Amino acid sequence: MRYRAVLCGCGAMAKGWLRALIESSVLREKVEIVGLVDLDRATAEALAAEFNLGNILIGTDLPEVLRESRADLLFDIVVPAARRAVVAAGLAHGCHVLSEKPMAATLDEARELRRLATEASRVHAIVQNRRFIGGVRRIRRFIQSGALGELTALHCDFFLGPHFGGFREQMANVLLLDMAIHTFDAARFMSGKEPLAVYCHEYNPHGSWYRHGAAANAIFEFSDNVAFTYRGSWCAEGANTSWESAWRIIGSAGTLLWDGGDRFEANVVTGSEGFLRSVAPIAVPEAEDSADTNGHASVIEHFIRAIDAGTVPETDGSDNIKSLAMVFGAIDSARDGKRVTIAA
Ligand SMILES: NC(=O)c1ccc[n+]([C@@H]2O[C@H](COP(=O)([O-])OP(=O)(O)OC[C@H]3O[C@@H](n4cnc5c(N)ncnc54)[C@H](O)[C@@H]3O)[C@@H](O)[C@H]2O)c1
Repeated sequence: MRYRAVLCGCGAMAKGWLRALIESSVLREKVEIVGLVDLDRATAEALAAEFNLGNILIGTDLPEVLRESRADLLFDIVVPAARRAVVAAGLAHGCHVLSEKPMAATLDEARELRRLATEASRVHAIVQNRRFIGGVRRIRRFIQSGALGELTALHCDFFLGPHFGGFREQMANVLLLDMAIHTFDAARFMSGKEPLAVYCHEYNPHGSWYRHGAAANAIFEFSDNVAFTYRGSWCAEGANTSWESAWRIIGSAGTLLWDGGDRFEANVVTGSEGFLRSVAPIAVPEAEDSADTNGHASVIEHFIRAIDAGTVPETDGSDNIKSLAMVFGAIDSARDGKRVTIAA
């Protein structure tokens, strides 16, 4: 089946979606964009012209465009504050909905959207594209193989100084809600563990060009006695890490370092004597399936395959809400200055 899709929210990220839809042969065959919606009609028209979308419906009223275009799918790329209403409109029309991250602006809104999706019997999944990259997939596979022994800890550093302008510089909890959601989701995915509790110190450093929460330090307790620590700032200029963070992952048998790019360094203990035991390097195998390492294209392909097969996609709301719960656990902890249990 070829699906008719309406794309709502025609800003910066929408271009990434349209590029993914063009570049993936699977998506070229399975998805047809039949409508564009934005609060600002000129923005939607400019996007249609840039991507040569031809004679499609363009409007500012989402329910009307969904109805007139007879859409099967809603691609939701609006700002987080508008997400709840947009997803609810898509589900009410009977669309399967794929949303940009974060899944919702609050945990209660996310729970409500889960309920609406279940009641409508429609797939509601989230673009958590940064788990669909080679490094994250390789590490999950490596950890699962037992090469590091029993997993004990994941530590990561995220330090960058991007000047976005736009909604990010105005929103509350900007680092945790807009960016750390990717990193927390990656930690959950790589480890295969459940997040149980968090303590977080969030603040806005001197000189920050964001209104609120450009830096955070969080300690998570995962299931099976695994710790995950996150140190992050979006107003740290001078020594950028990768957008994927720099990682130190420790198991009972050794350690893996990943710079968030191409550099992997894994060492496991080989000796049984001496103050510090001898170690030897081991290889980190490639991702199981390279088709799962193409970011947005891979997420959208998973979404379409799940609809075709009547299954649940990897980033379904029912799973993604656990990553969102990590974010809101961290936000609540920082606000109240105490350890918080995580409940999706
Ligand atoms: N996955 C990623 O790597 C990634 C990267 C960047 C942005 N994002 C996410 O994508 C989303 C959009 O970000 P962006 O950078 O494109 O923002 P943007 O501000 O460039 O674009 C958002 C667009 O949505 C429109 N809009 C807002 N409310 C609307 C509504 N109710 N109905 C219709 N249109 C509406 C705005 O007019 C604007 O054109 C955010 O949730 C952001 O977190 C994800």
